[in-house]
Amino acid sequence: MLLNAQEPQLLRDYLVRRGWIDESESITTLEKPGEGNMNYILRISTPIRSLIVKQARGYVEKYPTIVAPAERAIIEGHFYEAVQDVPMLAEQMPHLLGLDPENNILVLEDLGRARDYTNLYQPGQLLGDDEQVVLTEYLANLHHHFAVVTPTPVLRNKAMRALNHEHLFVYPFQIDNRFDLDTVQPGLQELAMSYKTDSALKTAIQRLGDVYLADGPTLLHGDYYPGSWLRTDAGPKIIDPECCFYGPPEYDLGVFVAHLQLANQPESTRKRVLTVYRETASFDEKLCQQFSAVEIMRRLIGLAPLPLPLSLDQKAQLLTDARKAFV
Ligand SMILES: Nc1ncnc2c1ncn2[C@@H]1O[C@H](COP(=O)(O)OP(=O)(O)OP(=O)(O)O)[C@@H](O)[C@H]1O
Ligand SMILES: [Mg+2]
Repeated sequence: MLLNAQEPQLLRDYLVRRGWIDESESITTLEKPGEGNMNYILRISTPIRSLIVKQARGYVEKYPTIVAPAERAIIEGHFYEAVQDVPMLAEQMPHLLGLDPENNILVLEDLGRARDYTNLYQPGQLLGDDEQVVLTEYLANLHHHFAVVTPTPVLRNKAMRALNHEHLFVYPFQIDNRFDLDTVQPGLQELAMSYKTDSALKTAIQRLGDVYLADGPTLLHGDYYPGSWLRTDAGPKIIDPECCFYGPPEYDLGVFVAHLQLANQPESTRKRVLTVYRETASFDEKLCQQFSAVEIMRRLIGLAPLPLPLSLDQKAQLLTDARKAFV
């Protein structure tokens, strides 16, 4: 079964068969709920409910030539299941309403027409004080809780982790990865070259990549950045744990603070996040800085750079600062 918005009758039959809607319900609207690259995702409304239905295929939805593990949707579903018994985490995420492992489909509670937080990258946009606290406490609670719970083997998410490892620790530092960064911004390729040819840096990053690949002490969200946060009337909610894995908490925290920097948030925000996090869970500051640095590098000079409104000089400064985490 391939989800297809062009075939509403088949879709309705499928949802009824699975028991996710009643025989008597008709589909009133079908729409794309928001921007995403990886998966096929629909908001399906009937007169009495609205569902978010997400299907992973064996490739990246937006770039079908890139192979990706189809079971990621089911692993994402298991993450939602795992947090369901932990009120502090469950209330920050949509509820899981259904899972179909055969077709790699998961069904989620619709959090409404909320936008994600990617507008934070635009000039003048600030993450509010309360939002900083909610987002940090979610992460601290997640890490703290799962450090003492017996691991669920499927959440090791080995195949997605291997794919992400390539994008984080390998491609950005390859001299010829066939992606011309000048198509993103003229001059970016040359700027990147000094990192791609820095063998001491590459050795350090390879070692860090090995830490990422080795299982670590707790469950991580795995992609904790503004695209995984939804701005709802009830405050920020967290979605899309398809990259989750058991790893070092410094990874999630590092990615979080990397995006505060990429979004040009005040230094006080980063400090606050680290302080609030420390109230619940401890962490290795150097390791956090290194994961943060790699996230900044890959988002600037990796294969799918973030579309940031930054000048080449600003990117150069971010890269220079990131490099310092490895001295
Ligand atoms: N439970 C939900 N309630 C409301 N909107 C949602 C929900 N889940 C997802 N969306 C919307 O759909 C968008 C894409 O969702 P999601 O990030 O899960 O997809 P994805 O394909 O995994 O994306 P990516 O390529 O960024 O990994 C979100 O940014 C949001 O706008
Ligand atoms: Mg995703």
